[in-house]
Parts: sequence; C-alpha cells; structure tokens
Amino acid sequence: MSAEIENHDNHNLSRNTPFSTILDRRMSRRRVMQGGLGVAAATLFAGFGLPGAVRAATAAASGQSLSLGFESIPGSMTDAVVVPPGYRAQVLIPWGTPLTTDGTAWSPDLSLTPELQARATGMHHDGMYHFPLDPEQASSDFLLVVNHEYIDQSALWAPSNGATNPKQGARPADEVRTEINAHGVSVVRIRRDADGHWAPVTGDRHNRRFTSATSMELAGPVRGSEMVMTAWSPDGTRVRGTNNNCACGHTPWGTYLTCEENWPEVFTNSGERTADQKRLGMPTGRGRYGWETAEQGQEGEFSRFDNTPRGASAREDYRNEARAFGYVVEIDPYDSDSRAYKRTALGRFRHEGCWPGRVVEGEPLAFYTGHDARNEYIYKFVSKKRWDARDANRPGEHYDRQSIGASYLDEGTLHVARFNEDGSGDWLALTPESEIPGGGPNGERTLGEVFGDQAGIIINTCDAADLLGATPMDRPEWGTVDPGSGDVYMSLTNNSDRTAQDTEPTFTDGAAGLGALGAGFDTAPVNAANPRPDNNFGQVMRWRETDRANRFEWEVFLFGAPAGAGNEINRSGLTEANEFASPDGLWFDERGENGEGILWIETDNGIDKGRDNAVAQATNDQVLAIVPGALARGDTRQTGQQLRRFAVGPNACEVTGIFATPDRTALFINIQHPGNWPASDDATQVTKGQVRPRAATVVIQKEDGGPVGV
Ligand code: FEO
Ligand code: CA
Ligand code: CA
Repeated sequence: MSAEIENHDNHNLSRNTPFSTILDRRMSRRRVMQGGLGVAAATLFAGFGLPGAVRAATAAASGQSLSLGFESIPGSMTDAVVVPPGYRAQVLIPWGTPLTTDGTAWSPDLSLTPELQARATGMHHDGMYHFPLDPEQASSDFLLVVNHEYIDQSALWAPSNGATNPKQGARPADEVRTEINAHGVSVVRIRRDADGHWAPVTGDRHNRRFTSATSMELAGPVRGSEMVMTAWSPDGTRVRGTNNNCACGHTPWGTYLTCEENWPEVFTNSGERTADQKRLGMPTGRGRYGWETAEQGQEGEFSRFDNTPRGASAREDYRNEARAFGYVVEIDPYDSDSRAYKRTALGRFRHEGCWPGRVVEGEPLAFYTGHDARNEYIYKFVSKKRWDARDANRPGEHYDRQSIGASYLDEGTLHVARFNEDGSGDWLALTPESEIPGGGPNGERTLGEVFGDQAGIIINTCDAADLLGATPMDRPEWGTVDPGSGDVYMSLTNNSDRTAQDTEPTFTDGAAGLGALGAGFDTAPVNAANPRPDNNFGQVMRWRETDRANRFEWEVFLFGAPAGAGNEINRSGLTEANEFASPDGLWFDERGENGEGILWIETDNGIDKGRDNAVAQATNDQVLAIVPGALARGDTRQTGQQLRRFAVGPNACEVTGIFATPDRTALFINIQHPGNWPASDDATQVTKGQVRPRAATVVIQKEDGGPVGV
C-alpha cells in the first residue's frame, strides 16, 4: 500500500526539480548538442521553430511545468480507435500493404503467396521507429521501420478457411513460406501530404522486408562458435531469419534494433533438450506452426526448425539452429543492400526490446534490455568504446553504419540487475571472471569455469544470471530513458507465478534449485520491486544510475489495478478515468528546454485474447500519459492522480509501438491483433459487420495541427 511505497523516499532523488537539477539538465543537453547526437537532438530542436510547438516551448521558457492538454477519455469496448475531442486517427500501412510497385493491392479476399507477402508489410505490427532522410523534412517524410511480431493464421488464411494441417500432418511448403514472410521487419518510406494525410511511398528504393528467412550475420562473442555451427552455416557465422520481433530500439548512429522475443516455440527438439533449450522453453513436440513438418525445402529450409540431433555432428544437422536466435538485431534502414547483424554481446533470451541510455560524449554507451517471461531478469549492456560524436547519424547518407555498430555493440560488458530491498540495485557483470556466490553446480568459482568462454555465457545468459543472484521480475516489457536525467522506466506487465511472502520458490521441471543448469524460477515469492502476489495488473519501475560503479537506485513508479480494487492492489489509487493493467509499451517523449517530458504508457491486457480481469471488463487496451517531471519521487499515489487515458484501441487488440514526429504533431502507435478492425482509413470508424482483421499503424494528430498531448 502507499505507506510502504512512500518509504522509498530515502532515494533522495527529488523530482521537485531544484535549480541545480535544471542546470544539470541544461548542461547535459548542451553536451548532447555539442556531441552532435544528430537526429535526436537536431530534430528535437527543429520542432520548437514550428507553430504547433510554440505552447510547449513557451511553457518551458517561463519555467512552468509541462502539462497534459486533454482530459482523460472514458474506457471503450468497440471495434474502433477512440481519441480525445479535437483529435483524429488514421490507419497507415496495415498488414498486406504492398511496398513495391509489383505488389498486389489489398482486397479482403486476397490470397497471400510467399512472393506477395515478401513484398508487403507483415502481420502484427509491434515496435517501430523513424529515420529521417532529410532533417528538414523529418516530421513529414521519413523511413518507418516496424516489427511484425507474429501471425494470426485465421486471418492469414481466411480465403481458404484456415491453414492446412495447423495442428497435425505436414504443412504445405508455400503456406509455411508465406507465414515465415509475414514475420520480421518492414522498412517503408512514408510521407505526409498538405492535408495531413500519411501514405507509404510505394516502390521507394529504401523499402524492404526482413523475414524469418532472410540471411543475416552473427556478430559479437557467439560468431564462429562451435555452438552455432549448422549444416547451412558450418563456420557459425550466419543464420536465416529473425523471428518474433517484439519491441525495438535505435542507436545514435542511425540504425534500428529489433528484438527476438517468443522464438523458442517455432523450434522443436524431440530428443533430449540441452540446458539452454530447457531454460528458454523450446518444445519437445510440434513447433508453434509446425514449420518443421513441411517437405521439399531447400537447404534445410524447413527441417532447420527441428533441432533434434540427426547427423554425425553439428555441421550435418540443425541441432544448433535456435542458438542463432534470441538476440538484439541491428538493421541499417538507409542502405537497402545492408545485411542485418545479430549483436550477440547483448545476451540471448526472450528479448523484449533494447533502449539506449543517456548519450554523453566520451562515456561508454548503455543499452537496457529485459527478458519477457515470468520471473526473468533485466539486463544492461555497457559498450567498451566510449561515445565519439563523429559517429553520430548523418541522415540519408550512405556509409558503413554496421561497422560503427560493431565498434559499440560487439565489445562490452553485459550485466544483470539485482534489486535490493533498500531501494538500491546492483549491475552484476556476466563475464568469465565473474565469481559465483556460493559456487556453481559442481563447485565452480567463476562463470568461466561453468560456461567456458563469453560465447558460452551468452548462449546460456539466463543460467549465468541465475548463478549471480539476479532478481526475478514480473515479466519485463518495454523500457524508455529520459534523455535529460538518464532515468530509466520499465514496464513489468504481470506475473501469475509471483507467490506470497515467505513461500518457497519452485524451479523449472521440478529442479531442486537454480544451480541446476536449464532450471530457472518457476514461481518466486514477492520482493520489494515485485511486491504483489499473483500480480494480474503489473507496474512501471523507475531507476537511475548512481556515481558508484554498477550501482543504481530504484522505485516502483506506478501500479496498474482496477479502480474498484482495495488499497493493497490499487496502490496508485486509480479511478475509472485511468485504470489500466498489463503495461507494455513505453516512451519518454521529451518536450521543452527544461528536460521535462510526457511518459506514454501502452497496455496489453485484453479481454478477448488476453486476460479476463476487472480492467479488461471495463475497457479495451489503451494509451495513457503522465508528466513525471513534477512528481515527488516514490509517491505512487500521486503518480496515479496525474495519469490520464489518451486513446483506446479496438476490441481484442493490444496497443504497442510508439513514437512521435520530431515536431510532435503526429503520434504513431500500432494496433496489434484486432478482432474486427479496421473498417476504413479512418481508425475511429466503428466496424459494421465483419472485416478480415489487419494489424496497422495508427497516426494520431490534432485537427488544428498542433502538438499532440499538450
Ligand atoms: Fe511481445 Fe513481451 O511482448
Ligand atoms: Ca539455472
Ligand atoms: Ca510487448
């Protein structure tokens, strides 16, 4: 309850914004400017010259707090997107939108083929980011890069009344190829016309698809390791495809990071699973879509999804195929000939996304990541190389961004988080030299003695983290960083395997403890950072690095809950106007000279294909907003009072993926797995009858063209 939370005010990180803090922020902003952060800084400042942003800039200049300029909208359960009065919402690049001029226009009875799907946007839009071609046009013409997390077979195969042999028997090769091509990432140039309408630039030379079959490079510690050698990549340097790309990230040098989340289930091993296969949950029966059952594939095209050892060695089968998945993958959207690189140094698990920390000239770069599974961990990668402003993005230019990426993302130190009860936290380094408190499963003293080299630690990231005593969290989802203060926010979406205080934890497959390789927490009792048992509603964390190396200070920022729940559950005092559950997407939207910003929160709670709790019975998934800068630290009840509901999605969807144009006049979100939507180009139009549902990006703008949210 709130009294307990208020005790966290010993963090001494007041958000009352004393002058010294404002000064610090201005200094750090100036450092960023001098450092030429490029797009981020340049576009941010470009925005203040535009009429729509005048109000925010004026507020900042007068020292006033930024404030939200809309009232909380009611919950909604319709087949439509709902936005506040004075706003409109447009559907953009829904699934099946042709990217090339030789594609086929969408129609409700379109039968997708592997070729058509490879030239069109994929299904289930998720994380996304924007990359300007010309900084002067950054708010009206840019490359949109969007993840396609997974597929809905009933919508994909609607014209033939469903997939062939979805649960048993061999899948037809071309159906599998189509499904594989509906996953991955799209790069598409989009443009706004004079009327404020957005459209893809069909046939633009930047437009391209990465799918779960595209050839990619392994980079970092795992590249060339025996552990990733396969019949198709006998030297362990390449792999086909990226899969279940959930959230995203971006780099100061102008590349996109796409993150592989729920990939273990597309593979199978019907024999004895390895420790990493057990730890990450690879099935022993049929894979999620039975891709491994298709016949007549080329070069193990389908059989690679079956990781059962069948050859005399790893180079003669696909036992190691899945070890090339579970990474952060770097894409250069500006160069349509560039390859994608799996940056293995950032760890291997069910990566939700990857968020860059504060960028400071001459300092190492930090990237925060989380493992989205119950009782899994939060990680931070710190580059060995220090930030050199000469590496900053030069929008639209062609040069070797992947070499710059290699210099920051292939060498560095991966850490896992321990959240201490007193509000402090420790980043524990995952290196061969790292000592294991209490020793390894066979009395080993260091991670190197257990896992061999760094590649072994990376392949078994979660088991290595277990041994160091990381804190099991309530399903880490998105993070975001306040670029001024460096504060990191992260959603912990929910956790049905969080048990009451003083209960004993249980471990995967009935293992006796964490020491057993391949065994993680199955259930874990509450701890200070994850304080509610059977956590149906989730919370948003906040932490800040301290001057002491590898030490941070944390608090719970906001608790999700139904309005009608008691104080033990509804710890942020939410009402019908802002109740939410299962926070997922986050974005810190920096506005104003004093470093303030709006924290946008998206939810994945959902009654139809998600959880059936009191919030799901009151409203569809939604977008909420809060200005965290003016809030006292550690007061989650005050936070709850300031939170407002901004938008609500259509029935059965989740709302995910978020950014705004640099001038903040257009907010982009994704509507994933809607049940019966969209009805038309107008996202707010309620569907009449039944449509073939399509995930889509939605652009929310003010009728008067001003900045969104204020
Ligand atoms: Fe794909 Fe954890 O959301
Ligand atoms: Ca373990
Ligand atoms: Ca998510």
